[in-house]
This record gives sequence, structure tokens and C-alpha cells, in this order.
Amino acid sequence: MRCAAILVAAGSGVRMGAGLPKALMPLGGRPLLAWAADVLMNSPAVEMLVVVGPPGHEAEVFAALGDGDAEVAVVPGGESRSHSVALGLEAVPPGVEYVLVHDAARPLIAPALIPAVLEGIADADGAIAAAPLADTPKRVDAEREITETPGREGLWLAQTPQAFRAEVLREAVMHAAELGRLHDATDCASLVEGVGGRVRVVPNAAPNMKVTTPSDVRIAELLLGERDAG
Ligand code: CTP
Ligand code: MG
Repeated sequence: MRCAAILVAAGSGVRMGAGLPKALMPLGGRPLLAWAADVLMNSPAVEMLVVVGPPGHEAEVFAALGDGDAEVAVVPGGESRSHSVALGLEAVPPGVEYVLVHDAARPLIAPALIPAVLEGIADADGAIAAAPLADTPKRVDAEREITETPGREGLWLAQTPQAFRAEVLREAVMHAAELGRLHDATDCASLVEGVGGRVRVVPNAAPNMKVTTPSDVRIAELLLGERDAG
């Protein structure tokens, strides 16, 4: 098998405050995780999809999934996003060459991004969807006083999907776990950077917002509606 995808969907959604795990909350008439799962399961590049779900909700996760060509597994997640990635990796069979990791919280993933990040690995260990900064970043101290304006040039915001050579991602996860730093990493690229891996950004101009708060749900529903109408 060449490529397996891991959909991390095990977060509790504290900032959403929906009273149920965020990935299972309704968005546009379906559980949030179903949107990205559909795209991954139906991508010609993806042979297996591992959905990492909220522990104890495996049946609801299965029920939320639509039809697709990829083989599907559902596993319970962990205490942090990176821990959930590590648990998802355990369900990826040995011999799989590439692993693509995506957040269930990004339902707008464009199907073309999947081959784009996989092509980006050709001369690197990983490639991630990313966008240049639109706002001006500021570094501030503990008193919230600005200490530096780094300038937008050369700064990008990491998104998912993020694709890696499977053995490099496994090594990176193991290394961070050994150092007790697995929970600190907020994306997979930073884990791979931590073992000296080379990771490229793949510019993504399409909307690929992360659904975090209740107002994000309304924006994502609007964008999904426009996409499906067009
Ligand atoms: N995630 C996960 N396991 C965790 C934490 C997060 O699989 N222990 C997943 C989420 O389900 C989400 C993605 O990582 O798809 C990005 O996380 P985030 O948007 O922060 O979601 P939550 O952690 O659920 O939200 P919050 O931080 O507001 O609690
Ligand atoms: Mg979180």
C-alpha cells in the first residue's frame, strides 16, 4: 500500500462548547468529521483511512462515515492531537509508504490538495498545505507590550493535510514521546522538523478554515453551501 490517511477527530471541542465532541457535532446537516472523511475516502491517492475518534464514540464515528473506495478503520484517540496521531499511526500497516494527516476540524479540504501535498514530498520528507499571513504578526511580552514586528515575509500558517514519508513520521513521533514532548506539538510538521526532517509548504489559496468556535460553524456552512451549489 502506498498511502494511508489519518483523520484526527478525537478532540473534545472545549472552545466550541457544544456539549458533545466537536467532530460529531452537526455542520450543514452532517457530523463535522463526515465532510473531510468523504474527501479522503474518495481520493484516488488514498488506499486506507484511519479515523481517530473520541474514545467511547467509535460507533457514532462509523455511522457518520459515508461511502468511499478506501479501506476504513476507527480507533480511539488520546490526550492531545499528537497523541491521537501516534495512536492512528499504530493502525497504519507496515509497508505503507506515505501517511497523510488531516484535521476533522477542516471540513473544506479541496480534493486537489491531496495529490498536491503528496507530490510535494518528491524531494523532501514532508509537505504541508499552508497559506501566507494576511495580518501583521506581533511578538508581545507578559505585559502584552509589543517587543517585535517580525514582518510577514517568509511566515506561513500551517494547515492540514500534511503528508510525510511514513517511516520519518513514525521516527518523529517516537522521538518526541521519548523526550516527553509529544503533547506540546500542535502539528505533525513540527515533530518531523524535530528530527531534522525536511518539510515543504504547498501554497493553498482555497478556503480551508479550522472550525473552532460557533461562529466558525456558520461560516463553514455558508462556504460548503456555495461550493456544493457551484
Ligand atoms: N484532536 C484529536 N485528539 C485530541 C485533540 C485534538 O484528534 N486529543 C483533533 C481534533 O479532533 C481536531 C484537530 O485535532 O480535528 C485539531 O484540534 P482542535 O481544532 O483544537 O480541536 P479540539 O481539540 O477538539 O478543540 P478545543 O481545542 O477547542 O478543545
Ligand atoms: Mg485542541
